[in-house]
Amino acid sequence: MRTPQGQPAGKIDRIMLLAMWTKFLRNKRDDNLTTNPVEVIPEIISAGMGKPVLPLNKYTSMFMKDYWDKASSSAIDYGDPQGDTEPRVIMARAMSSWYETDVDPNNILFTVGGAGALQGIFATLKTLHEETTPNFRIITPFPYYTLYGDYDNHLYPIDVMKNTGYRLTAESLQLSINQAYDLAIEDHGYPKVILLCDPNNPLSTVLGKKELEKIADILRKYPDIHIILDEAYAEMCLDGNKHISLLTAAPDLKDRIIIMRSATKALSAAGERMAITIAFNEQIMAMLLQKNISNYGHAPRSLQMAYATTMSKFTLEEQKNIVNFYRPKLEYVKRRLIEMGANMPDPHYNPEGTFYILGDFSDLLGEPLPESTFCALNKKGQITTDEDITYSLLFEDSVMIAPLSYFGMPKNKGYMRITCSGTDKELEKLMTRLEKRLTIARNNIKDAYLNEIHEKLTILININKNLHHDILDEINDIIDPNKTSSIDIKKQNEKLGHALSAVELFINQSTTAGQEKAATVIQANFRGHLARKETKLKINAQNAEWYQFVDQIAPNPSKIRSDLINFSLTERLEFTPWKKHISNLNNQSISAHFFMQVLLNNEMKIVGSLLLLAGLAILSLSISTTATLALSGITAGVGIGLVGFGIFYKKERHESSIAPIHEHALTT
Ligand SMILES: Cc1ncc(COP(=O)(O)O)c(C=O)c1O
Repeated sequence: MRTPQGQPAGKIDRIMLLAMWTKFLRNKRDDNLTTNPVEVIPEIISAGMGKPVLPLNKYTSMFMKDYWDKASSSAIDYGDPQGDTEPRVIMARAMSSWYETDVDPNNILFTVGGAGALQGIFATLKTLHEETTPNFRIITPFPYYTLYGDYDNHLYPIDVMKNTGYRLTAESLQLSINQAYDLAIEDHGYPKVILLCDPNNPLSTVLGKKELEKIADILRKYPDIHIILDEAYAEMCLDGNKHISLLTAAPDLKDRIIIMRSATKALSAAGERMAITIAFNEQIMAMLLQKNISNYGHAPRSLQMAYATTMSKFTLEEQKNIVNFYRPKLEYVKRRLIEMGANMPDPHYNPEGTFYILGDFSDLLGEPLPESTFCALNKKGQITTDEDITYSLLFEDSVMIAPLSYFGMPKNKGYMRITCSGTDKELEKLMTRLEKRLTIARNNIKDAYLNEIHEKLTILININKNLHHDILDEINDIIDPNKTSSIDIKKQNEKLGHALSAVELFINQSTTAGQEKAATVIQANFRGHLARKETKLKINAQNAEWYQFVDQIAPNPSKIRSDLINFSLTERLEFTPWKKHISNLNNQSISAHFFMQVLLNNEMKIVGSLLLLAGLAILSLSISTTATLALSGITAGVGIGLVGFGIFYKKERHESSIAPIHEHALTT
C-alpha cells in the first residue's frame, strides 16, 4: 500500500489511509472541475468512516457559547489531571442515573476522545500485567473496532460470525475463554481482559439484558479477568430504549469493570474529542490517571464541562431524536441491500444499534482490478481481497465503504461495512452505484459460467446424451432474458454454479459407481428443474383437457370457439361450465381413488370373485336357515358388484389419457 504522496503506507491505520485517499481524490476532482468544468466527475460519497451528521447537540452548543463568552475576560489555567471537580461531580451524577448504580466523581476520568481513553486503558492493563503475564490475551468478538488491534494488543477472538445473527452469546464467550486457557498452557498468554463493544461497531448488534446476565454468570467464574466495556454508541440503541450495560445488569462486577464513553457519535461532536473513562478500582484509576497525564496532561477544561453538562441533560427524548434521524437511513440501506442481493448471508442479522450495516460484496472478488487503483494498492491483476474491492469502488465508482478485514475478518470474504449517515440523496446514489457495480460483476460471472458449462457439455454429450439434453434444458430455464435485475442475475449464477459443478463431477467420475454418485448429485441439483418439468406436464394435460372441452361445447368454427381457445388459465377458472367440468373430473378421480385404496386397483375383481364363490359355497352347504340364506345372498351380491365395478373402473382408467386434475394443478 502507498500513501497519496507516493510513500509506502507502512503501519498507517488502514481506515485513516482510506480517508487520506478519499480526500486526495476529492481534491483532484475539485481541481478537474475548475480546469475542465464540462467533464462530469461524480462526487465521492463517503460511507466508510463513523461520521455523525446530525447537528451538534443543542446543550453542548449552548454551553460552548456561554463558556467562551465568560472565559474571554481571563486566562485559562491548567486544571485537575483527572478532570475538574465540577464536571466530574456533574458527570458522576449523570452516570449514576444512567447505570442505576453509584458512580463517584473519583470514578470519572476525562480523556481526549474515546481513542485516548482506550489507549490509556490498554497501556494501564499492559503495565499491570507486564511482570507476570506480559503476553496476556484480550478476548473480544471478531470483527472488532480497529483501534483494539493497535498497541500490540494480543487479541483473541470470539467467533461471533458463526452465531445466529452474528450475535455474541455467553456460550461463545465461554468457548473462547476455554480455548485461550488451553493455548496459554503453551505460550503463557492467559486471558486477562474481556473487551465488549456494546452496541457493537462494526456489527451493530446490541447484547440485551438476558444475554448480559448469562455473560455475567460466566465472568463471575474468572475473578482475575478485567472487563472493558466500550460504550461509544450507548445512546444509539435503534429501538429507542435506553441501553442496558453489563454494569447495570451485574453491578457486583463493578470493581473489575472499566467503561469508555464518548461524545463523538451521540452528541455529533467527533472533532471535539470529548470522552470519559469510568473505573471503580482505585489502583486501576490511579494508573489510568498516570497514563492520561503522560499522554496529554488533561482533557480540555471547556470540553469536560460541555460534556458533563450535556450528559446531565441527556434524556430519552434526546436519544429518540438521534434514533429517528439515523434509523430510517439504516432501514433504507438495509432494504436496498436486500433488493440487490448484497445482504449478509445470515437472514437473522439485524442492526439494533449504531448507524452501521454490513453487506456482502463477494461477487466483486475475481473482477479485474482497475488500473487506476495501482497508485494506492501497488498491485495489478484481479480483485482478491475486500481491500481491493474498497479501492476499486473508490477509484471507479466514487464511493467509500470499509472492508471488514479492517475489523479483523478474513480478507477474502468480501464483506463490507456501510455507514448510514449520509443525506437521503447521497445514500440513494451510494446504493445505486453499488448495485450497478454488482450487476456488471454478476453479468461477468454469468458469462464465465456459461462459457465453462458449454465447454464441459461438449465432453458430456459423448458420455451421457440424456443428461446433456437435460442440462441444456435446465440452462435455458435458468437464463430468463426478462430477469435482468442484479439480484436475478445473482440467483441465476447460483444455479449455474450448481449446474457447472454437477457436470464437472459427472465428467470427472470415471467409474460406474462414481458416475452413479454424480448422477444423484445432479438429480439433487436439478430437483427444481424436475419440479418445473412436472408442472409443465400438468399444464399440458390441462390444456389438452380444455381443448377437448371446447370441442364439446363449441365444435364448429366461430368467434366463441376462437375466444375460448385463447382463454388464459385465469379466465378458464372464471368460466362456470369449465368449473363444473373440473369439479366432475375431480369427484370422479377422488371416488375412484378411494376405491383404489380400499381394493388395491383392479384386484377388486379378484376379491369380488372370491366373495361370489364364498356366497355360492354357503348356499351349496344348504343349511336352510333364513340367516344363512341371507348371508349367502349378500356375499354373492357384493361379489358380483365388485367384479362389475372393477371391470368398469379399469375401462375408465384406460380410456382417460390425462392425469387427474386438481384445483392446485390448475392454478400453478
Ligand atoms: C467502538 C468505538 N470505540 C471507540 C471509538 C473512539 O471514539 P472517539 O471518536 O471518541 O475517539 C469509536 C469511534 O468511532 C468507536 O467506534
